[in-house]
Amino acid sequence: MSKISIFGLGYVGCVSIGCLASNGHQVTGVDLNQTKVDFINMGKSTIVEQGIDRLISEQHGRKNISATTQAIQAVIDTDVSFICVGTPSSNNGHLNLQSIYNVADEIGKGIREKDGFHVVVIRSTVIPGTNAKVTGIVEASSGKKNHAGFAVVSNPEFLREGSAVNDYYHPPYTLIGSDDNQAIAIMKDVYEGIDAPIIITEIEIAELLKYVNNAFHALKIAFANEIGNICCKLGINGHKLMDIFCADKKLNISPCYLKPGFSYGGSCLPKDLKAIKTIAHDFYLECPVIENIEKSNELQKRIVYEKIL
Ligand SMILES: NC(=O)c1ccc[n+]([C@@H]2O[C@H](COP(=O)([O-])OP(=O)(O)OC[C@H]3O[C@@H](n4cnc5c(N)ncnc54)[C@H](O)[C@@H]3O)[C@@H](O)[C@H]2O)c1
Repeated sequence: MSKISIFGLGYVGCVSIGCLASNGHQVTGVDLNQTKVDFINMGKSTIVEQGIDRLISEQHGRKNISATTQAIQAVIDTDVSFICVGTPSSNNGHLNLQSIYNVADEIGKGIREKDGFHVVVIRSTVIPGTNAKVTGIVEASSGKKNHAGFAVVSNPEFLREGSAVNDYYHPPYTLIGSDDNQAIAIMKDVYEGIDAPIIITEIEIAELLKYVNNAFHALKIAFANEIGNICCKLGINGHKLMDIFCADKKLNISPCYLKPGFSYGGSCLPKDLKAIKTIAHDFYLECPVIENIEKSNELQKRIVYEKIL
């Protein structure tokens, strides 16, 4: 059993507090928002989500969860702190990581007051380099050294709103970005109750992976919609067509063609891509994803040539 503090009682934090408690851990939620803290202390969820009300109520009844606005005390009382605060886009499109940095500073102040090793887990979606920045902030405010008094681990969340509790218990894998063996061992204990492989990787890979996942999911949706639009124009049932497309687990829904490297070529791919673009053009149908594949491929040729020369 680990003693865990969860910073941020929004979507990810609320699901984490309930699910980690039900896996046998003692969990303390921390938020600036007194109303959210009061909700948890009354055994109520801070979000609307299938299965979460019962989970929070049950775990509160068993005295496995509580919440507070007192960040430093929460860190002193626990061994692992999860950062689950929001990372909204700023006006210029960059990520606003200020809440992450504020929490890192608070956690550092707590670590300064305690003796044992502390694991800081970045659960929020953050850009590569954030772990290093958080490590610097914690070092400064705790007065302790990375790998000695604490370590910062990147552990992105893959839940979807609407099925978040189920997604928590059944992730494709648990991803831990860390270069600290003590922190890795502690994280393995935290996730002992989850029946999914644990992948340990470099910090920057763990940080970027969530963005890669979501970019790919968005690409799949946009591609399927463009195919559906072409099908509509041709009077073809797009759902039936995509069912058959998805039934090919060898080349279509598979790791095939998903390794970075050189551009595509040969006779079929360029010719058939031109043909499907022309079908769309003949119907005055815009298909920006499909139309720009060739452009991306030409760009890749240039990038690779420049690397070789
Ligand atoms: N919502 C999702 O489905 C989802 C899924 C996966 C990942 N994520 C990522 O997880 C992160 C959190 O998302 P969310 O939707 O749970 O956010 P949210 O906005 O619902 O909740 C964030 C919470 O953090 C609290 N907070 C802010 N500053 C704080 C501080 N200094 N100390 C303590 N609490 C503080 C806020 O009061 C708020 O309750 C984001 O990076 C998001 O991109 C979200």
